Amino acid sequence: MGKRKQPKDRVDHFFTLYNPTEIALDPATGIEALEQDVVFPMATFARNIERWITDPALTPIVYPPFRGFEPLSKTTTTATTMDVTMTDTSSTTGTGKSTTTSRAAATTTSTTGQSTTTVVERRLLPKGEWQPAVVERITWTLDPTLGTAQFTFHAVDRTPLPAPTYFQVSEFSLTYTTLPSAAAAPEITPTTRAEDLVPVGRTRLSWCTLPISPEAAKLGHEPTRAKVWHTMLQRAYKWSVHDLLGGYTPVNKDVLVAKPAYSARYAQLKKKYAYLLTTWTEKTDPQKYVYEDVALASYLTLLWERHYSPSEKTDEDTARASARANVHFADLGAGNGLLTYLLHKEGYRGFGVDIRARKIWPRWQEEGASLIESTLDLPTYTLPPGVTWVLGNHADELCPWIASIGTRSAGPRPNLFILPCCFYNQDGNLFAAPASTFPVPPHLEKAGSRYKRYLQYIGELCDRNGFEVTYDALRIPSTKNLALICTPRAGAEAAIPTSTVVAQAGPAATTRPVEKQQQLVGAAKADGLEAAAPAEAPARPAPVHAAAAERTSR
Ligand SMILES: C[S@@+](CC[C@H](N)C(=O)[O-])C[C@H]1O[C@@H](n2cnc3c(N)ncnc32)[C@H](O)[C@@H]1O
Repeated sequence: MGKRKQPKDRVDHFFTLYNPTEIALDPATGIEALEQDVVFPMATFARNIERWITDPALTPIVYPPFRGFEPLSKTTTTATTMDVTMTDTSSTTGTGKSTTTSRAAATTTSTTGQSTTTVVERRLLPKGEWQPAVVERITWTLDPTLGTAQFTFHAVDRTPLPAPTYFQVSEFSLTYTTLPSAAAAPEITPTTRAEDLVPVGRTRLSWCTLPISPEAAKLGHEPTRAKVWHTMLQRAYKWSVHDLLGGYTPVNKDVLVAKPAYSARYAQLKKKYAYLLTTWTEKTDPQKYVYEDVALASYLTLLWERHYSPSEKTDEDTARASARANVHFADLGAGNGLLTYLLHKEGYRGFGVDIRARKIWPRWQEEGASLIESTLDLPTYTLPPGVTWVLGNHADELCPWIASIGTRSAGPRPNLFILPCCFYNQDGNLFAAPASTFPVPPHLEKAGSRYKRYLQYIGELCDRNGFEVTYDALRIPSTKNLALICTPRAGAEAAIPTSTVVAQAGPAATTRPVEKQQQLVGAAKADGLEAAAPAEAPARPAPVHAAAAERTSR
């Protein structure tokens, strides 16, 4: 698939054409369906459904409870087919009630072609170990001569537990039929607009419903069923449109943490910490904060396991023990302290610090999490010795200072994890970062957005302060999901004097007025670390707009 990115409005036009017809349940056959006329040819449709069937990373997009699959078998057979076209040149004459039809000539043309039938069996792997794996058989027949494609999905093994929603059917199929209008359809060029196109094919998703088992009804599967089918047809449409328009650049996800491992860890931690949803005492929405921080804890723990056990062969227990022995995190701008708490519960040493203690902190502290109320003087704050990871999760004004802080450690340089959100500069003001050539993930390369420029600004600060920068798109429920994971560059071990760092960071990098503030004595005690004693801290800048104010209340 190509990498040409399309202007967004052009793609959007194609999506306004998506409006499938619902075909009601036929009591005689038990079949329901969705139908959508499309402007892409059969080959495009078939290629994208095949991609979905064969790429494990795409499984959860259509089957959310599964993280991927294991291929079991694949066979392909070829057959010869014949396309017969009858041309009836009859002419009809007459007016009023009487008409005469005379058959002048009838021609029959036939074309022989090859159809291929592929049968694949795959074991779908559930996200949670308490859910059953399902063996699925998919049979697809492609006939380029007839312009038809038919994919039939069938769950072979539904035992031992009630089948998930997705298989509360005996089988379902996705078909493509080329319409007669395809023969005269104009070719698509880079300037073609969706409204100029005529449908060339009809896609149909049909399924044969099974009665819902009492177990599945108890699990609440029934109401989500219709959504599953809509998602499936919509995805088939979306992938094909993107393909038709020259492909799209996939988001750089799972760069440092493999998706199947992440999905399994997330499912495990989500279950383990589900109690937080019902016992949340902050005013903020627990659904958002608990799930997002559980997702971050899943990512970070896996990142650390991999970082401290680079061999793929290391078993999980050894990797975890190695990570726990080596990680010492400093969560700067910890807010409600949930991430600090989760990491502490997962066996990691470290502390969180924030200007303002939150009402919920005593609860985390009672369970041993180290949270310190302190205003960090960003241009001078020195990390306590032993910190190996500095975390800046939506850390607002702290974000542009984290790289610089990373150079101010009594011991070896730490690694950095920065998840930027609001666009603060080092003055503590929201700003629009200037255009930059600093490399960003491929899917952002052609964007001119403020977010992209901000990521470049933070990336450049890390780079100039001697860190290797890797961007990873996290699987968190947020549009600002790009994190920078930075490791000290070889040879950049010595701390860079603050003055140099400030000068390097360009015109935006000026220091702010300072005021007397608390010291990190609490951090030292609770964490077993010897905290630096920052004498002075910058005045907390007033939030510049509502979004910032909202973020800082996390
Ligand atoms: C948007 S909140 C994020 C909180 C948390 N990391 C989260 O994602 O939920 C940013 C936090 O940074 C804190 N902060 C900003 N400047 C700080 C400083 N100089 N010292 C300590 N904390 C600071 C703010 O008080 C605020 O709680």
